[in-house]
Amino acid sequence: MTRPHPEELRALAERVARSAGALLRDGIGRARLEVGTKTTGTDMVTEMDRASEVLIEAELLGVRPDDGILGEEGASRAGTSGVRWVVDPLDGTTNYLYGFPGFNVSIAAEIDDVVVASAVYDVVRDELFSAHRGGGATRDGAQIAPSGTDDIAHALVGTGFSYEPARRRRQAQVLVEVLPAIRDIRRQGAAALDLCSVACGRLDAYYERGLAPWDLAAGGLVAAEAGAVLTDLDGGPPRPDSVLAATPGVAAPLLAVLSAAGAGDP
Ligand code: IPD
Ligand code: CA
Ligand code: CA
Repeated sequence: MTRPHPEELRALAERVARSAGALLRDGIGRARLEVGTKTTGTDMVTEMDRASEVLIEAELLGVRPDDGILGEEGASRAGTSGVRWVVDPLDGTTNYLYGFPGFNVSIAAEIDDVVVASAVYDVVRDELFSAHRGGGATRDGAQIAPSGTDDIAHALVGTGFSYEPARRRRQAQVLVEVLPAIRDIRRQGAAALDLCSVACGRLDAYYERGLAPWDLAAGGLVAAEAGAVLTDLDGGPPRPDSVLAATPGVAAPLLAVLSAAGAGDP
């Protein structure tokens, strides 16, 4: 079967991300009505996570019925076209529940298992990040690039913490070593926006352990296409369980600090 052009998938991801974002915006007041938990007591899910995923699946497959899909809230379908969508229908659920900015819709398209196009829609800022492989990354249509910072002491670094208490303890121990070496830390609460923030220079770097595929897929492509260095915490290829995104001048020194602190250890 002929594969679609990544640009076409990017346009569809953009459209559907905005549409799900509008649904989330409308639901802000209702967000606390029905809150459940997933992996641990701090890993929350709302009726809006699920409603957003239902909308995204219907809109994507309405246009491209032969595609596969993997969504955080359970969408799972193999498809026959060679295209698979990887979807976080609401990234930053905790922010959403508290009315704290930093939640987004994150949609990536893979062709033959490689992410080739993506969109991340920041609902509160009304900003749309997107990218396609080899085509660069944009925010609201304008080309973006990482910060250009080359001194780790001046680096503003994002990170995130696991929902699992034992891992959080280890993450706090890593932070004890990292914090004195950098400008400051931000915990934005939404992995896809952390990656997009590195892509556009709002953060100089971001690292996290224990993400899921839908946290990394869309924002990871935006960061890489913008020109950020994207690796795992040992300097190898990025993977959901271990990711670093950084402006090029900060990547190597930050990796050294993280590695000395044991950030990549199992
Ligand atoms: C979470 C957020 C958070 C990150 C977690 C993710 P969710 O996604 O991206 O920043 O630290 O690892 O699970 O649960 O809000 O979709
Ligand atoms: Ca997420
Ligand atoms: Ca989510």
